[in-house]
Amino acid sequence: MELFKTKKELKEYLKEKKDAGMTIGFVPTMGALHDGHLSLFREAKDENDLVVASIFVNPTQFNSKSDLEKYPRTPEADLKKLEGEGCDVVFHPSNEEMYPEPDTTEFDFGGLDEVMEGKYRPGHFKGVASVVKKLFEIVEPHRAYFGLKDYQQLLIIHKMVKDFNIPVELVPCPIVREKNGLAMSSRNELLSKSERKQASLIYKTLKFVKVQAGFQPIHELKNHVEREFKRKNMKLEYFEIVDLFTLEPLTTWLGSKNVIACIAVYVGNVRLIDNIILFS
Ligand code: PAF
Repeated sequence: MELFKTKKELKEYLKEKKDAGMTIGFVPTMGALHDGHLSLFREAKDENDLVVASIFVNPTQFNSKSDLEKYPRTPEADLKKLEGEGCDVVFHPSNEEMYPEPDTTEFDFGGLDEVMEGKYRPGHFKGVASVVKKLFEIVEPHRAYFGLKDYQQLLIIHKMVKDFNIPVELVPCPIVREKNGLAMSSRNELLSKSERKQASLIYKTLKFVKVQAGFQPIHELKNHVEREFKRKNMKLEYFEIVDLFTLEPLTTWLGSKNVIACIAVYVGNVRLIDNIILFS
């Protein structure tokens, strides 16, 4: 496995491979790798000649300094896992390498950034889009792999790729869950044993919502979810039932064909997100 810290060296290496006709699959990450990430590598490995992973905790997508500071960082363990998965290339740049000067690119996400994560984490998606755009320009992958847990992020990256005509195929990958249903996330590392147990309520609730979808009125279902988290002393930041493509909140099931339910909950001090597709 090759490890690069500079854009220049990585670009030179990849140019040779592309000139030789190899296809490049890319998995951008912020490290603290878990089985969810590893499933992205496996898919990338199946579909491409060469797999590139990046490990970069992107400061511009954190809207709180303490969240950035406490984000788990396990670079040695990450490199071992990647090697074990047969990853070919790792890009692990410094902040200065990625942001020699502040990024001034303007993005228009067409309102996709105004709800849910965008509403509660102002500036988050601008940070995500700017780092992913930079990474795409450096790696120039044929395909890039993203987990569906961050569904809103995936839609926003899709819009950015379209707007900037970036020639990459985005490959959405299924959410990988722990035994108790908790969606795998680097942030799960920050949960205590009992919080991990508590957090199973998130997926349990989403599954209940899926069973009720189309039958119980949306406002009643939302009230029910709010009550459930309150009862268990967990802070529900949002629970929304939205259109799968526009992310506009729905108030009725009538005429709704593509629908997803998205949730953000604090378990202790750890903020977790999850979602479930209700109709598509
Ligand atoms: O999903 C993530 O881990 C990050 O948002 C990403 C896409 C690697 C950008 O920093």
